[in-house]
Amino acid sequence: MGLQQKGMHGAWASRWTFIMAATGSAVGLGNMWKFPYVAGSNGGGAFVLTYLGCILLIGVPVMMAEVLIGRHGRQSPINSMREAVTDSGANSRWQVVGWLGVLAGMLILSFYSVIAGWALDYIFLISSGDLQGINGAAASAKFSELLSDPSRLIMWQSIFMVLCVIVVVGGVKKGLGIAVETLMPLLFLMLLLLLVFSILKGNFSAAVSFLFSFDFDALTWRGVLEAMGQAFFTLSIGMGAIMAYGAYMPQNANIGKTILIVALFDSSVAIISGLIIFSIVFATPGIEPTEGPGLMFISLPVAFGSMPGGLLIGAIFFVLVSIAAWSSAISLLEPCVAWLMEAKNIGRARANIVIAGTAWVLGLGSVFSFNIWADYKIAGFTFFDFLDFLTANIMLPISGLLITLFVGFVLKKDVINFEMEGTSKEVLALWQVTIRYIAPVAIAVVFVMGVYDKFF
Ligand code: PHE
Repeated sequence: MGLQQKGMHGAWASRWTFIMAATGSAVGLGNMWKFPYVAGSNGGGAFVLTYLGCILLIGVPVMMAEVLIGRHGRQSPINSMREAVTDSGANSRWQVVGWLGVLAGMLILSFYSVIAGWALDYIFLISSGDLQGINGAAASAKFSELLSDPSRLIMWQSIFMVLCVIVVVGGVKKGLGIAVETLMPLLFLMLLLLLVFSILKGNFSAAVSFLFSFDFDALTWRGVLEAMGQAFFTLSIGMGAIMAYGAYMPQNANIGKTILIVALFDSSVAIISGLIIFSIVFATPGIEPTEGPGLMFISLPVAFGSMPGGLLIGAIFFVLVSIAAWSSAISLLEPCVAWLMEAKNIGRARANIVIAGTAWVLGLGSVFSFNIWADYKIAGFTFFDFLDFLTANIMLPISGLLITLFVGFVLKKDVINFEMEGTSKEVLALWQVTIRYIAPVAIAVVFVMGVYDKFF
């Protein structure tokens, strides 16, 4: 049946490497930059609860489905999806799932590298001492200064993209594998250090009550859609990344258990980052938790600048964010690179240059949307906001919905049974009910209500 063949791209050294890689993909700007500010502007606790519900009810089952398709096909998402469709004798239109995923991944990589560039810039900005004792207005001016300078943004975007290429050129074992095995433990260590700092020096109890007090009145349908979009985005699902990583997963690893561990790591990092950021924000008078995207780049520098030892901690914080972004961006690059290698029969290095180059050019649109193109709007959005909304809130839910339906109703039973071997009957049944009924209905309802809320 060809179920056990190894793909041309190689495989992870062990299940642990897969866990590190998938966690590296999942933990990123979504956890540290986006989660705290969307939680902050959507009423704190109620949003957090909805988000965790989405992770468990929709995220985990969809993530399992993606890994399953990837491991069955052992190729790039586009070709793994094609294989799953062919093996199931299904309509070839289902292949759109693979394409949609890789396209979303490419779009996300383009703006993700721009934001990651901000974090790189801030490592140096904060280390220079310029932010010592700065107030809110001055911090805001510093941030605007960065955003209004295309060449500075392009420089950091380019450096970040080169860092990603260096890893992905090395291949699955020597590039991605070694990178995640080194970076992830470092990331957890730094996170722990910052957590201790925020407990000692920040207003930890205020952060806890903000993130865990439930104000359901502040939560709208749009907020629920954002919680779901955030769950997709943070788990890296719906865009081929996890499908591609699943293609390199050892055959004997249990998909359900492994994915639960990844989801647990990912949500813990989001919550811990939120606690760290809000502890520091609440310890500094005059800063609001509802700041929005500037929370990390305006509020935090003020807070760091006002604390003893804060600049060093601040620099460590931005190194941490950069590493998290790095280990995520490589998982956006890899599926596209793997696909180009298969499709055009070219080497890894050339494929990297083509894909990273294209994402870089597209990224210029995001760079300019913060300065010279700030007034050009698509459906009321700047180019950057448009890509962010289009990918997280439209493409990922659609792709997620199609994956649940495909794996729930179309994919051949043999494939499912083979890939889910070792899973107890009860868990398998629970997963199948979730993937067939609960997840698709939830995705569809939230999607329709959220988009309606947004535009009408
Ligand atoms: N999960 C990443 C984050 O939370 C974003 C990401 C999405 C990375 C898709 C890779 C693939 O930042």
